[in-house]
Amino acid sequence: MSQLAKVSTTLLRNVPLFAGLDEQQLSVLASAIVRKSVGRNARIIGAGDPTDSLYIVISGRLKVLMSDEQGKEVILSILGPGEFFGEMGLLDDSPRSASVVSLEACELLTISKTDFKRSLSENFELSLMVMRGLVKRLREADQKIGSLALMDVYGRVARLLLEMAEEVDGEKVVVKKLSKQDIAKMIGASREMVSRVMKDLQMGGYIEVRGRSIVLRDNILLPD
Ligand code: CMP
Repeated sequence: MSQLAKVSTTLLRNVPLFAGLDEQQLSVLASAIVRKSVGRNARIIGAGDPTDSLYIVISGRLKVLMSDEQGKEVILSILGPGEFFGEMGLLDDSPRSASVVSLEACELLTISKTDFKRSLSENFELSLMVMRGLVKRLREADQKIGSLALMDVYGRVARLLLEMAEEVDGEKVVVKKLSKQDIAKMIGASREMVSRVMKDLQMGGYIEVRGRSIVLRDNILLPD
C-alpha cells in the first residue's frame, strides 16, 4: 500500500534535480509535491499509459523496462536515489515510453504534470537539470547500444558490473547485487549464459563473491 504525505523544503534541498533553486522557489515547489512510499515489485508507471506526473527517487531502486505480450522483458536501466523518471511523457505529451517497477521498498516524490511544467517555465536551472538528466540517459543508452553490437556476453557482464560497482576501501565492489535474471534482462542474454559467465569470471580470478557483494579485480576489463 502506498502512503501520500506533504514534503519539507529541507528534503527538497537534498534532491539533485532542485540543486539550482533558492529557498523561495523550493517552498513553492514543496506545496506541489507529495511523498509516496511503495513496496517491492510495485508498478509505478505502465508503458503506454497516459502521462500525469514526474517522480523523484528518495530511497530504493527501481527498474525501467519494456516487455512483449509473452512477458519477455528487457531492462533499460536501474534507477536509484537522486534520480527522476516520468519526464519524457511530460515533455512531449506522449504516453509512457516504458514501465517502471520497484526492485525494493522505495520512497518517492511526485509532482503533477501541470505543476512541473509551470516550475520548468519559471526556473531555468530546473530545465537545465532535466536536460542534463536526459543527456546522461542518452550517453548510457549509446554505451549500451555499443556494447550490444561490439561486445560478447563476457564483455557485457564485465561492463555492467563495473557500472554498478562502488569504491569501498580502495576496491571496486558491487554492493547491491542484482539477480542473474535481471542481469540477463539488462544485457540481452539468457539467465543460464549469465550464470556460466559469472562462474567463469570467478574461476578466472576476475571477480570474487564475498557474501552478498561482488569484488571486481583490476583485470576484469580484459577477460580472455
Ligand atoms: P516516461 O516515458 O514518461 O515514462 C517511462 C519513463 O522511464 C520515462 O519517462 C523515463 O523517465 C524512463 N526511461 C525511459 N527510457 C529510459 C532509459 N533508457 N534509461 C533510463 N530511464 C528511462
